[in-house]
Amino acid sequence: KNVLKPNKDLAWSKVLVTAGGTREPIDPVRYISNRSSGKMGYALAETASNRGAEVYLVSAPTRLAVPDGVNIINVETAEQMYQAVMDLYPRMDVVIKAAAVADYRPRVVAAQKIKKNNADLVLELEKNPDILMELGKQKKHQLLVGFAAETEDLINNAREKINKKNLDMLVANDVTKTGAGFGSDTNVVNILYPDGSVEPLPLMDKLALSEVIWDKVLQLKAGKKI
Ligand code: CTP
Ligand code: CA
Repeated sequence: KNVLKPNKDLAWSKVLVTAGGTREPIDPVRYISNRSSGKMGYALAETASNRGAEVYLVSAPTRLAVPDGVNIINVETAEQMYQAVMDLYPRMDVVIKAAAVADYRPRVVAAQKIKKNNADLVLELEKNPDILMELGKQKKHQLLVGFAAETEDLINNAREKINKKNLDMLVANDVTKTGAGFGSDTNVVNILYPDGSVEPLPLMDKLALSEVIWDKVLQLKAGKKI
């Protein structure tokens, strides 16, 4: 890319990116979460901002610095992420859901630190809202991009998600593959479309992969009036 004249090809867009792994509290000192580092979502926010987009980053806790020029909305739980995303959604042109949202949360959050005793502890979990599924249901002019983390049968599992959630594009990765795991600076993905087509991409740095994802978003936009 020409650094003297950066390509502002996303200057037309307001984009919402979600990142990080949500934290679901058990009591005041404990939570349930997952291995997401937030790197993929932050890379998407950074590259979109550099390309001229107005970027809103709804982020679960990470150890990452917020990229320059990005509007940050910090959340912890899936429920908080759901509220923040739904508030922004009507005004957005593109939404990319890179966050690892906890599918379940403790049904009861203890007001005080749970004390140990001699018995085992059973934690009851209830389902969180599926944010991306709801975005798919309410979709109007927006381009909707999901991620899918799989450990087996990648393409079939991902195809099911793209249809069920009414997505325009799905970035699927096998998180057990070398270079594609959580916390890595690289990723190996397949990009899926609603017509069933699959584009496998080579191992890439997450910033380079982000640039490719935004290129694909532009291609989608060109092929579809929004
Ligand atoms: N997602 C979401 N809200 C949830 C769960 C997932 O918005 N409660 C989004 C993720 O941000 C991701 C996509 O849905 O973009 C797929 O997440 P994934 O965990 O791979 O799929 P699930 O639909 O949750 O199915 P499963 O975990 O059973 O594979
Ligand atoms: Ca899930």
